[in-house]
Amino acid sequence: MFFEPDEGHGLAHNPIAACVSPRPIGWISTINRQGCHNLAPFSYFNLVHNFPPTVMFSCNGLKPDGSPKDSWVNARDTGEFVYNAATFPLREAVNLSSTAWASEVDEMTKVGLEPAASKLVLPNRVAASPIQFECKTIQVLHLPTNRPENPNTVVFGEVVGVHIDDACLTDGLVDYDKVQHISRLGYLDFATIGPRFELPRVFAKREQD
Ligand SMILES: Cc1cc2nc3c(=O)[nH]c(=O)nc-3n(C[C@H](O)[C@H](O)[C@H](O)COP(=O)(O)O)c2cc1C
Repeated sequence: MFFEPDEGHGLAHNPIAACVSPRPIGWISTINRQGCHNLAPFSYFNLVHNFPPTVMFSCNGLKPDGSPKDSWVNARDTGEFVYNAATFPLREAVNLSSTAWASEVDEMTKVGLEPAASKLVLPNRVAASPIQFECKTIQVLHLPTNRPENPNTVVFGEVVGVHIDDACLTDGLVDYDKVQHISRLGYLDFATIGPRFELPRVFAKREQD
């Protein structure tokens, strides 16, 4: 099939997110100017650079009361956020923390998670998550949208501190089987990391070599 998104897909469910699967889930903790903590998952999330390590997450749409999502507002206002890895043992809490509670509600404690203080930023980390990145906001971009009621705000942040649970390292490598990342597919589907394979890296030869 071929379709132009503006014209519609003709299927029972929008296939777009399923076409870009799996997507890592950034479980983003922030704090607002008043000191209220916040936690929400974002599957429009990724690592976009290594030097310095840089991540992004994208807030789409508005809260049910028509206000902007807390995560990007807090990341903009305070200049800080934390990426927590979303894992299989924590999947129910990840999902529940996406509830659109009021800004004053601390989703981390509301869903029964223990907070851990960060070292370099104010937002707490999810203690039970084996990987957390402390981040400083670099830029907040408001991308154009053809639906004003569905804004698209992308937050970029520099990773200034990295926490990895030592129990998730095997011979100095992050052990996927121990971390148990979950990722988002399309529809209501999620995935864990399945069989893996290695490929030798191929570097293009420079012409003058
Ligand atoms: C697994 C998962 C992934 C999600 N990914 C996104 C996303 O990429 N962008 C988005 O705007 N909302 C996403 N949501 C919904 C937000 O988590 C939800 O709107 C949340 O209430 C936002 O919270 P905030 O207002 O505290 O930022 C996702 C929800 C789930 C369960």
